[in-house]
Amino acid sequence: MQNLTVRLEMVFEQIKKAAGDKAGLRIIDVGSDHGYLAVRCLDEGIAGSVICTEIHDAPAKRSAQALEDAGYKANSDVFVTDGLTGVPLKVGDIVVIAGMGGLNIIDILTRALKDNGSSVFEKVTFVLQPQKSVELVRQYLSGSGFCFVDETVCCDRDIFYNCMRAGYNGVMSHITNEEACYGPVLLKKYNNGDMGVKDYFAHLNDIYKIRQRSNPIVKSALKERQKNDSK
Ligand SMILES: C[S@@+](CC[C@H](N)C(=O)[O-])C[C@H]1O[C@@H](n2cnc3c(N)ncnc32)[C@H](O)[C@@H]1O
Repeated sequence: MQNLTVRLEMVFEQIKKAAGDKAGLRIIDVGSDHGYLAVRCLDEGIAGSVICTEIHDAPAKRSAQALEDAGYKANSDVFVTDGLTGVPLKVGDIVVIAGMGGLNIIDILTRALKDNGSSVFEKVTFVLQPQKSVELVRQYLSGSGFCFVDETVCCDRDIFYNCMRAGYNGVMSHITNEEACYGPVLLKKYNNGDMGVKDYFAHLNDIYKIRQRSNPIVKSALKERQKNDSK
C-alpha cells in the first residue's frame, strides 16, 4: 500500500468519503507530481482508473513511473497539460486538486466549468487542498455555483493544511468574510467543539492578526470571528 504524508492522507480520506460505498471510480489528480495519491487510490480499489495531469514534463514522468512500478500502467493515463485542459469530465468522476495555490485552483476550475458545462459538473465531486489564498477559493466556490460538502484540517510537520470537498449545484451564493476566511464547514465543526479545528482557528487568528493590516477581507473576518466567538 502506497504510504502518504499526513497532508496527503487527509486528501485521500476526502476522496474515500466522496466515493462512499462505490468502488472503481475514475479519479483525476490534477498536478499529480510524484503520483503517490493516484497509486494509493488504485491500491485501495476506490479508483478503477486514474488520470494524472501535470503542467511539467518531469513530474508527469515521475507519476507515470510510479504508476507503472505499482503495476497500474493499464488503468492509468498521465497527460502533460494545464489543469483539466483536454480531459473531458464524466459523470461520477472525482477531481482532486491538491498542493497548489488557490488562484491556480480557481483558474483550473473556471476553465473546466466552461469546457464541460454545468450538467456534468453537477455529477462530479471536487476535492481541493489549496496551499494559500484559501479564502479566495471559498469565495469563488460559493459565488460560482459550488456547494461545500465537507472540510478537514491536519497538522503535518508543524504546518496546518485544510482540504475541502465540494459539489456543484449551480446555485450561486454569498458567504461572509468570516466564512471565507475560516470556512463555513469548519465554523460549524468549531461550534460543535472539534478540537482539531479549535487548534487550527487559534493558528489562523495569529496569522490573521498580522495579515489584517494589508488585507481588508481578513480584517473584517477577524472582527466577525471575535464577535461571534464571544457570544
Ligand atoms: C506542490 S505539487 C503538489 C503535488 C500533489 N498534488 C500533492 O498534493 O502532493 C504541485 C504540482 O502541481 C503541478 N501544477 C501546477 N500548476 C498546474 C496546472 N495548472 N496544471 C497541472 N499541473 C500543475 C506542478 O507541476 C506540481 O507538480
